[in-house]
Amino acid sequence: MCNINRLLIFALGLFLMLLAPSDAFSQDEPSIEEGKALFRNQCASCHNRNMKDNLTGPALGGTEERWADYPREDLYRWMRNSQAMIADGHPRAVELWNEWQPTIMNAFPNLTDNQIESLLLYINDQYTKSTQPSETSVAGGAGAGGEGPRTSNTIYFILLGVLALLAVVLARILSNLEYLSEKADGKEPKAQRTLLEILTSKGVIAFVLFALIVLGGFTTVNNAINLGRQQGYAPDQPIKFSHETHAGLHGIECQYCHDGARRSKSAVIPAANTCMNCHKAIKKGSQYGTAEISKIYASIGYDPNTDRYIDDYENYTEEQIEEIFREWITEQYMADEGGFDEKAQRVVDEQWEGIKTSLTNEVKKKIQGPIEWVRIHNLPDHAYFNHAQHVAVGEVECQTCHGKIEEMEVVRQYSTLGMGWCINCHRQTEVKFTDNEYYQNYERYHEEIKSGKRDKVTVEEIGGLECQKCHY
Ligand code: HEC
Ligand code: HEC
Ligand code: HEC
Ligand code: HEC
Ligand code: HEC
Ligand code: HEC
Repeated sequence: MCNINRLLIFALGLFLMLLAPSDAFSQDEPSIEEGKALFRNQCASCHNRNMKDNLTGPALGGTEERWADYPREDLYRWMRNSQAMIADGHPRAVELWNEWQPTIMNAFPNLTDNQIESLLLYINDQYTKSTQPSETSVAGGAGAGGEGPRTSNTIYFILLGVLALLAVVLARILSNLEYLSEKADGKEPKAQRTLLEILTSKGVIAFVLFALIVLGGFTTVNNAINLGRQQGYAPDQPIKFSHETHAGLHGIECQYCHDGARRSKSAVIPAANTCMNCHKAIKKGSQYGTAEISKIYASIGYDPNTDRYIDDYENYTEEQIEEIFREWITEQYMADEGGFDEKAQRVVDEQWEGIKTSLTNEVKKKIQGPIEWVRIHNLPDHAYFNHAQHVAVGEVECQTCHGKIEEMEVVRQYSTLGMGWCINCHRQTEVKFTDNEYYQNYERYHEEIKSGKRDKVTVEEIGGLECQKCHY
C-alpha cells in the first residue's frame, strides 16, 4: 500500500510541475485564434475575411496550394517583403504582381514563422467555413495546417513514456529495497519479483491509469484554454482613442483615467465625464477633426454649438441629435475650408453616420448612454485578479503586464494572461518586504531578514502559488 501512495504523490508532483510551464508548450504554437487577431489587425483592410472574394488584394483561400511548388520559406518571405521577391523574379511573386499591380502589399518584416502559420491556419479555417458552410471547423486542420497540434501531442506522448519508465524504475528500486531490508532483518526474503510481476502489480497499473487520466485531462483542458486566450488581440473601438496621443505624447498618467487600479480589483475604463475634463475645451483633433471627439459629446449629451450639457437628453429623438451634430460639423468644416464646397456634404454625411453607428449596437439601440468600449483583457470567471494588490501593494508597473501602452495607437493584449504567466512572475518577483506595512505579520521572515538568514522574500513565499488565492 505504501508503494502506491508514494507513487501517487510522485505523480501529483510531476503534474503540478507541468501546470506552470503550460504556457511554454502553447505559446509558440500556431493557432487559429492568433491568426484571426493578426488578420484583423494587419490584413483585413485589403483581404476579404471570407477568403473567397477579392478586395483590394486577392482572395487568400487556397494560398497554400498555389505556393505548393515552392519551399515553405518562400511564402514566409512573401509576407515579410513581397516587393523584394517580385524584384528577385520569383515566379509566383511575378505572376501575382502582373495581375495586381500597381497595388502593393504592405511588408510585414516582424511576422514570425509561427505567426504566419497561425495566419495560414485562420485563412484555411475561414475558407473551409465559407465554401462548405455545413462542415464545422474540424476540417480546418486539413492540409499543412495540422502541424501545430501534432507536435504538441508528441510532447505529451513522450512525457507519458517517461512517466511510465520512471514508474517501472521506481517500482524496481522499491522492490529491491524491500528485498534487502528483509534480508538484513535476518528474515528469509520472498523471491525477488520479476519485471513482469512488477509491471502487472496493482501499484503500477493504478499509476499508469492515473497518469493517463491526468495527461488526457491536461491536454484537453490546455487546448480548450488556448481557445479563450487572446494574446495580441486588438479590436477596433467605437472611438479612435489613442493611448499614444494621450499617455505618450501628452504624458497623461495612466491612473488619471484608470483610477481604480490603485484602490480596487478593476482598473476601470474611464467614463465620458473624465474625457470631458479636457474635451470641453479640445473640441477638434488634429487627426480626425470633429469626427471622433463629437462621439464623446453625442454619448454624454453635450451640445458643442452652445457649449452646454443638454437637459432631458435621454428623451431626444435621433433626428434631434442629428440636427445638432450636422450643424456642428458643417460649421467647423466651413470655418476650416472657407465655405460649403462640393466635398462638404459628403464629409458631414460620413461623420454623422460614424457617430450614429459607433454609439449604437444590438444591445444599446440608441446613441445616448455610455460608450461601449470593446473589452480586451478578460480572465475566465474561475480566476481572480486584483489590480490594487499588484499596483498599490506589489508596486508592479502597468507596463510589466500590459507592455508599452503609451506607444500603442490601438491597445493590444501584450501578455498571455495564462496561469503559467502569473505563476512564473510570482516565483521570480521579490516583494518589497521590509518597507511595506502590508507584510508586518510575517514575523518569521522579518526575523530571518534581520538575522541575515535570508535576503529576500518572493511572492511564492507569501502564498502566491496557493490555488485558492487565484481561484474562487
Ligand atoms: C495594402 C493592402 C494589403 C495588405 C494590408 C495585405 N495584403 Fe496581401 N496582398 C495584397 C495585394 C495587392 C496582393 C497581390 C500581389 C501584389 O500586388 O503585390 C497580395 C497578395 C497576398 C498573398 C498572395 C496570395 C496568392 O494567391 O498567392 C498572400 C498570401 C497575402 N497577400 C497575405 C497577406 C497577409 C497574411 C496579410 C496580413 C499580414 C496581407 N496579405 C496584408 C495587398 C495587401
Ligand atoms: C485619457 C484617458 C486614458 C489614459 C491617460 C490611459 N488610458 Fe488606458 N484606456 C482608456 C480608454 C478610454 C480605454 C478603452 C479604449 C481602448 O481600449 O483604447 C483604455 C483601455 C486600456 C486598456 C485595455 C482595457 C481592456 O479592455 O482590457 C489597458 C490595459 C490600458 N488602457 C492601460 C493603460 C495604461 C497602462 C496607461 C498609462 C500608460 C493608460 N491606459 C492611460 C483611457 C486612458
Ligand atoms: C487630460 C486631458 C485629456 C483627457 C482626459 C482626454 N483627452 Fe483626448 N485628447 C487630449 C489632447 C491634448 C488631444 C490632442 C488634440 C489634438 O489632436 O490636437 C486629445 C485627442 C483626442 C482624440 C483625437 C482627436 C483627433 O482628431 O486627433 C480623441 C478621439 C480623443 N482625444 C478622445 C478622448 C476620449 C474618448 C477621452 C476619454 C476616455 C479623452 N480623449 C480624454 C486630451 C485629453
Ligand atoms: C500584474 C499584472 C498587471 C499589472 C501590474 C496591471 N495590470 Fe491591468 N490587467 C491585468 C490583468 C490580468 C487584467 C485582466 C483582468 C480580468 O480580466 O479580470 C487587466 C485588465 C486591465 C484593464 C481592463 C479593465 C479591468 O480592470 O479589468 C485595464 C484598463 C487595465 N488592466 C489597466 C491597468 C493599469 C492602468 C495598470 C497600472 C496602473 C495596470 N493595469 C496594471 C494585469 C495587470
Ligand atoms: C509581473 C509580475 C506579476 C504577474 C504577471 C502576476 N503577479 Fe500576482 N503578484 C505579484 C506581486 C509582486 C505580488 C505581491 C503583492 C502582494 O504582496 O500581494 C502579487 C500578489 C498576488 C496575489 C496575492 C498573494 C498573497 O499571498 O497575498 C494574488 C492572488 C495574485 N498576485 C494573483 C495573480 C494572478 C491571478 C495573476 C495572473 C492573472 C498574477 N497575479 C500575475 C506579481 C505578479
Ligand atoms: C497566481 C495565480 C494562480 C495560482 C496560484 C493558481 N492558478 Fe490556476 N489559473 C490561474 C489563471 C489566471 C488561470 C486562467 C488561465 C487562462 O485563462 O488560460 C488559471 C487556470 C487554471 C486551470 C485551467 C487550466 C489552465 O492551465 O489554464 C486549472 C485546472 C487551474 N488553474 C488549477 C490550479 C491549481 C490546481 C492550482 C494550485 C496548484 C492553481 N491553479 C493555482 C491563476 C492561478
